[in-house]
Amino acid sequence: MMREREPDVPEQIPGEDSPLTADVSPEVADVVEEFMTEAAEQNEAAKESAVVPGKPLPYISFEKVSKSFGDAHVLQQVSFCVLPGETLCILGRSGVGKSVSLQILMGFLKADSGKVRVAGEDICGFTEREMQGIRRKVTMVFQNGALFDSITVGENVAFPLRERGDLGEEQISQVVKGLLEMVGVAGMEDLLPSDLSTGMKRSVAIARALASQPEAILYDEPTTMVDPLMGQLLGNLIERLKRQLHLTSIVVTHDMRFAKKLADRVVFLHEGKAQFFGTIEEMERTNDPVLREFLALDELVLPV
Ligand SMILES: Nc1ncnc2c1ncn2[C@@H]1O[C@H](COP(=O)(O)OP(=O)(O)O)[C@@H](O)[C@H]1O
Ligand SMILES: [Mg+2]
Repeated sequence: MMREREPDVPEQIPGEDSPLTADVSPEVADVVEEFMTEAAEQNEAAKESAVVPGKPLPYISFEKVSKSFGDAHVLQQVSFCVLPGETLCILGRSGVGKSVSLQILMGFLKADSGKVRVAGEDICGFTEREMQGIRRKVTMVFQNGALFDSITVGENVAFPLRERGDLGEEQISQVVKGLLEMVGVAGMEDLLPSDLSTGMKRSVAIARALASQPEAILYDEPTTMVDPLMGQLLGNLIERLKRQLHLTSIVVTHDMRFAKKLADRVVFLHEGKAQFFGTIEEMERTNDPVLREFLALDELVLPV
């Protein structure tokens, strides 16, 4: 298999428990700390307000969602949900509709039928303008990063900060510097996205997502097709974001070790159906032969 070289991965990968701001330079630490605290508090408040006596409402859900392209019935009555602050991993072989599911949640594709809730709202009849409001709360990190190619890394991350309209230039450049340090690509402000490896583009995409102080992040195969060290860095970062920012997350992944570490629940897509939806513990006890085969295959590919 072809592996690309990752020239600038830090030698030290921050541990799972390392505070997000541990690697941020002292001169921007205060500004960045404040920015991240603001985000964490907002998410915690959102989590609490979602609880109706004893029963949290899903932050994101699919209810019997179907989607076809011509004769290809990619999703057939698929249901799953994610509670506020939880992480859902979407598992399944290539081509089962994992990316399509994320694109439906972002409103880039429309479901043919069924109910789609995002940020607690039924987005089915939403206009593009209404979806833009949703996309301020829920951001997606694409496999290739989907950065703006013609502007620098720093400007990419500054983009959501400028959109807010309440931050000065000095504050913006401090937050950008700090966010890049936080995700392991310190000092790369002036590079263009084309100068970066796939893994670094994903790191920058995560920094850009964080700059919008989202309530939820959807990641499409964040640790796939990068150097193992970069995969570990990205995996730990996602874990720290979940724990320290109370972010609601959906992670499409093939990496079962990562899923076991991260997921509160998993949904396994197979032949258009949600073949399994439940906790990791329930998944490990399952007798479902299709899921067992998937899990066994994965252990072969990824020896522990
Ligand atoms: N915009 C599209 N138009 C037509 N077919 C699509 C489109 N997007 C995805 N598909 C098809 O839907 C199926 C599921 O794709 P995808 O969600 O990307 O799979 P994966 O689970 O690997 O992410 C594939 O067969 C793919 O070819
Ligand atoms: Mg995909």
